[in-house]
Amino acid sequence: MKRRDAIAGQEVLVTGGAGFIGSHLVDRLIADGARRVVVIDNLFLGAEDNLADAERSGNLVLYRDDAEITSSLAYVFEQHPIGVVFNCATKALNYSFLNPANAFSALNLLELQRRGVFKTLCHFSTSEVYGSAVYEPMDEAHPRQPTTTYAAGKAAADLAVESYVRMFDVDAFIVRPFNNYGPRQNHRGLLAGVIPITAWRILSGGKPEIHGDGTQTRDFIFVRDTVDAIARLYPVMQTGRSVNVSTDNEFSIAQVIGMICREMGYDGEIVRKPARKADVESHCASNAEVRSLIDYQLTPFDAGLKETLAWYAARFKSR
Ligand SMILES: NC(=O)c1ccc[n+]([C@@H]2O[C@H](COP(=O)([O-])OP(=O)(O)OC[C@H]3O[C@@H](n4cnc5c(N)ncnc54)[C@H](O)[C@@H]3O)[C@@H](O)[C@H]2O)c1
Repeated sequence: MKRRDAIAGQEVLVTGGAGFIGSHLVDRLIADGARRVVVIDNLFLGAEDNLADAERSGNLVLYRDDAEITSSLAYVFEQHPIGVVFNCATKALNYSFLNPANAFSALNLLELQRRGVFKTLCHFSTSEVYGSAVYEPMDEAHPRQPTTTYAAGKAAADLAVESYVRMFDVDAFIVRPFNNYGPRQNHRGLLAGVIPITAWRILSGGKPEIHGDGTQTRDFIFVRDTVDAIARLYPVMQTGRSVNVSTDNEFSIAQVIGMICREMGYDGEIVRKPARKADVESHCASNAEVRSLIDYQLTPFDAGLKETLAWYAARFKSR
């Protein structure tokens, strides 16, 4: 295992840092003493609002630019002596249903790393690379059988990271979050996650919707737990390895929508919509590996959901 310099005192790059998980990670890296957190985000789905806390710290630099443009990325590295990159940038899963040929790739970063431009890469994969469960709970050895072009792009990026580690001895590891929820998750339009869009529909006087029969399950993890795990994993993860960042329980979409309705005092109609093609049926992860590596703290789902819904309610009010 390569010894990594502590985050405190370093300049760190977060690609996609104005997004949901990325912005919470930015806050955490600043709290952990990063000298400067540099974000490159094309604001495809991210928002500068998400970085308001980080902005106030005075330790943030935001580049509103595209990390897939080699010259843009090179420019950022010319401006900052970056030691570590957290690669969160992505086009949302739902977007792949509209424009399948647009998965985000890690190759740009890997090429810079191979040339010694920065030391460590923490690459964000996704539970979606596993496809529907062949066995449960899904551990890191579960076959990668992506069902969507989004997941195929993410699986390709994982393989690229693993091959660069084997071929060029770069220091890179992969974190594989399951379904995150929490404040700042996008609630707008086709690219919204199920919890924010349901909350927003109820707040705006609309009706919650379930695609398919609602029995499809997901392993929901509170975003600050994900970010906490990643901060703790950074010093201990072996180069080239992947780790699930998940809870070890699963909820069906129908259950989650039911909990949201109860918490928000909604007892109206729930609209049924056709199932989405290629949606995975079930996602229950094993988190044995992450538990063996760090002190792993998880927020109970009902508490995380309550905080999340309160955040959306406050945001709705302040519009
Ligand atoms: N949210 C989840 O439940 C979840 C689950 C598993 C894995 N992940 C992974 O975690 C990472 C972060 O996801 P998220 O939920 O925060 O998504 P998000 O869409 O909120 O954030 C991604 C950010 O990347 C930015 N972006 C997209 N293309 C870019 C580009 N070419 N250059 C620069 N910025 C670009 C977007 O504007 C956005 O701010 C992703 O890699 C995703 O695959 C997320």
